[in-house]
Amino acid sequence: MTSRNVLILPGDGIGPEIVAQAVRVLDKVNEKFALGVTHESALVGGSAYDETGSPLPEATLTKAKAADAILLGAVGGPKWDGLDMSVRPEKGLLGLRSNLDLFSNLRPAILYPQLADASSLKPEIVAGLDILIVRELTGGIYFGQPRGIRTLENGEREGFNTYVYNESEIRRIAHSAFIAARQRGKRVCSIDKSNVLEVTVLWKEIMEEVAKEYPDVELSHMLVDNAAMQLVRAPKQFDVMVTGNMFGDILSDAAAMLTGSIGMLPSASLNAEGRGMYEPCHGSAPDIAGKGIANPLATILSVAMMLRYSLDAKDAADAIEAAVSNVLDQGLRTSDIASEGNKVVGTEEMGNAVLAAL
Ligand code: IPM
Ligand code: MG
Repeated sequence: MTSRNVLILPGDGIGPEIVAQAVRVLDKVNEKFALGVTHESALVGGSAYDETGSPLPEATLTKAKAADAILLGAVGGPKWDGLDMSVRPEKGLLGLRSNLDLFSNLRPAILYPQLADASSLKPEIVAGLDILIVRELTGGIYFGQPRGIRTLENGEREGFNTYVYNESEIRRIAHSAFIAARQRGKRVCSIDKSNVLEVTVLWKEIMEEVAKEYPDVELSHMLVDNAAMQLVRAPKQFDVMVTGNMFGDILSDAAAMLTGSIGMLPSASLNAEGRGMYEPCHGSAPDIAGKGIANPLATILSVAMMLRYSLDAKDAADAIEAAVSNVLDQGLRTSDIASEGNKVVGTEEMGNAVLAAL
């Protein structure tokens, strides 16, 4: 691969702090494995709005389209809560997802054995947990039209959104899930609400149709409310879970917490060519922004996913994942994942430890 240009989008809240550590890790493996990665930064989210009046400035979108991969921190915060929906920080993130057609969102929930105590569930329920949530990311109720808040004839206001999926949108995310399952436990559980919502009746039907092309992978279906319950009751029953945008948003936060902290989980959002945006599953955590205590590991692990999926640098990805595991073995923890007997460290110290382990 010749061009390896990464766009760095720190964003808001803890975004800049955690991304700074992830970039140090990227620079380190770049040097160590002679990857030839170059990177530049741009504005997105609330910080972009403050500077330019748009959460996704044209310049950022242009750079994003040209990049081989994107590393994003997080967007949003109470400072921008009052803004019109069209310019909220989250629109920057959603705009990147839809403009780059990043329809396939991979959210692994893996329990590091060292963190079994940090989970809110009993260790035996989560030990060895390894789930992959495949979330459709550019359709469904997040993007369906019409949407808005209108005033009815009687003067009362009404909010409305549209939950819509067409066959090709369902088909391509189904393929993502089946392909991913082939490389793991060969089981896909498709999550729907087909007892109430027609759109997910179609979803279920297309999943069945695509499953025929993957006879080596087992497909099952589960209603979303039951899936939420099963995730906290017996999460190890799942291998790959595939679902739409909104259910995936909700279930992936629940799955993340099983692993001790949402601060540990990376994600990849890929388009049909495998180009992608990589970000931690967690948000901008405005309550701890600027304090230097945020956990940078999800972002550092997102760099590993980026190297593996978009930059064809598996060895570097493996090295980062091993370094993170090594740091946890040493007993180092940011406060979100600390239990008794651990050494609690801040964001930068955690970055230092990962660099040292590399
Ligand atoms: C996520 C986030 C976003 C989403 C927000 C920030 C728009 O919660 O990536 O899960 O809802 O998709
Ligand atoms: Mg979310």
